[in-house]
Amino acid sequence: MATNRTFTMIKPDAVANGHIGGILDKIIKGGFKIVAMKYTQLTPETAGKFYEVHKERPFYNDLVSFMSSGPIVAAILEKDNAIEDFRKLIGATDPAKAEAGTIRNLFAKSIDANAIHGSDSDENAAIEGDFFFSAAERF
Ligand code: RTP
Ligand code: MG
Repeated sequence: MATNRTFTMIKPDAVANGHIGGILDKIIKGGFKIVAMKYTQLTPETAGKFYEVHKERPFYNDLVSFMSSGPIVAAILEKDNAIEDFRKLIGATDPAKAEAGTIRNLFAKSIDANAIHGSDSDENAAIEGDFFFSAAERF
């Protein structure tokens, strides 16, 4: 299993607020190579499936409805130590607690509308990337 890839989504709030360009700039300047990318919208069904691990959590329904509320940018990113370095680049889940200069500190408004997703493990990065991209869509 690859240890140098992660999966990300620029979430509906950041897309709606005009931050696609600003966020991609941070990602590229952070040393990540874009392996795959698409602009698409999740349905409540696909968002529910994507976040299935959180099914029992109290915020699950709000999360699914928010993530399917507008278009997102999905991408597979490559870098040494990708999972950990990308989590560092995006900052804490709650933007109020995200370190200065992180993507969530710069572009997110709340714990629900927190601008960006980053995989939490190599295993989940592979599952999440496969959820969105075929082999022919990876470069
Ligand atoms: P993500 O998966 O989106 O990258 O976020 P994360 O790892 O930082 O946080 P995670 O625990 O995986 O939660 C997924 C998303 O659910 C929302 N959340 N709300 N109200 C709450 O306590 C709460 N906790 C999590 C966030 O929008 C989070 O990004
Ligand atoms: Mg997570």
